[in-house]
Amino acid sequence: MTDPTPHHDGAATAGARPAEVEIRDLTVVYRTEHGDLPAVSHASLDLRAGEITGLVGESGSGKSTLALSLLNAVPAPGRITTGSVEVAGVGDVTRLTGRRLRRTRGSALGYVFQASQNSLNPLKTVGKQLLDLGRSHEVEDLRGLVRRAGDLCERMGLDADRVLDSYQHELSGGMRQRIGIVLALVLNAEVLVLDEPTTALDMISQAAVLDIVRSVHRENGLATLVVTHDMGVVSEIADRLAVMYGGRIVEHGPAGELLRRPSHPYTRALIGATARIVGDPGLARALPGQPPDLTTLARRGCVFRDRCPLAMPVCEESDPALSEWTPGRFRACHAEPAPADRAAAVPAPRTQDDPIGGRP
Ligand SMILES: Nc1ncnc2c1ncn2[C@@H]1O[C@H](COP(=O)(O)OP(=O)(O)OP(=O)(O)O)[C@@H](O)[C@H]1O
Ligand SMILES: [Mg+2]
Repeated sequence: MTDPTPHHDGAATAGARPAEVEIRDLTVVYRTEHGDLPAVSHASLDLRAGEITGLVGESGSGKSTLALSLLNAVPAPGRITTGSVEVAGVGDVTRLTGRRLRRTRGSALGYVFQASQNSLNPLKTVGKQLLDLGRSHEVEDLRGLVRRAGDLCERMGLDADRVLDSYQHELSGGMRQRIGIVLALVLNAEVLVLDEPTTALDMISQAAVLDIVRSVHRENGLATLVVTHDMGVVSEIADRLAVMYGGRIVEHGPAGELLRRPSHPYTRALIGATARIVGDPGLARALPGQPPDLTTLARRGCVFRDRCPLAMPVCEESDPALSEWTPGRFRACHAEPAPADRAAAVPAPRTQDDPIGGRP
């Protein structure tokens, strides 16, 4: 395992467990007519066994691009230009190719792709796709694999026999999304990545799926990354939060603390805009301005400065590095974390089932 890189020094999260995944100084660019533009810039983050990390940010902030880098699966015209992704027992996946890379996908890292409800093969039953998956990973005990998939289906509230015998078009969007999660878990991967796992679901199915993810995560001691634009979802499930903006991780730390005392102005705005966290839809305020895309993203200085209430001249000039401002808490901001900043803009939790109130 490598040390944190100097660019974003000390991005490793505090905690006793060794990291299952260490992302260091990761930059991913897409080739466009305007040249190579970075969708992820110098990102560093650890995923630890037993912890659910939530990766959150507005649409286009680079979450999926970062997550796909964990599989070394950023599609062309994207490519990783700096950094590494060390996975325990595997090594740096950004250097893997061919058969070793294919084997790592699925067996070490289970992945549910964004819009995975549309990613099943329409011409094969789910059961047939499960067997294909097993064969491609040289699973010898295919009956055992089917049994395990059946158990996972039942836990997801799915009728296993029916599901395994069905084609994609015979299943609802919510069922397909849950099957995606079953297929990501069935090979016993130790790292689980879920990209927008509940987007296609209504609120009730969303809560049920999050419950199952949480319990399978706990039972198997997984290192889980949940990628979502929905602060409400991560506030309910994550132990740690990483907040992305314009390809940067602008803040990360323990979820409860970060939600109670957000430090980066973007995190504060994001939380303030989430009715589910603020508790009162009347108090939730939408973020002013538009998130940048690759072509409008500032090439110099802080990427958030145009929307930032704390912007200063230095923010025009230099891109703030992610650094530890208090033990276990990281932020990328030139403004000093003033005492007033620490008193979060989030009202105190009022109900017992408030997700923030439930945390240690
Ligand atoms: N194939 C591509 N070619 C060019 N630009 C791309 C490509 N894929 C993504 N991008 C750009 O990279 C940036 C990051 O995209 P990404 O999909 O990683 O964001 P995201 O945070 O996952 O967004 P969402 O919440 O909408 O899923 C966006 O500006 C997007 O337009
Ligand atoms: Mg995405």
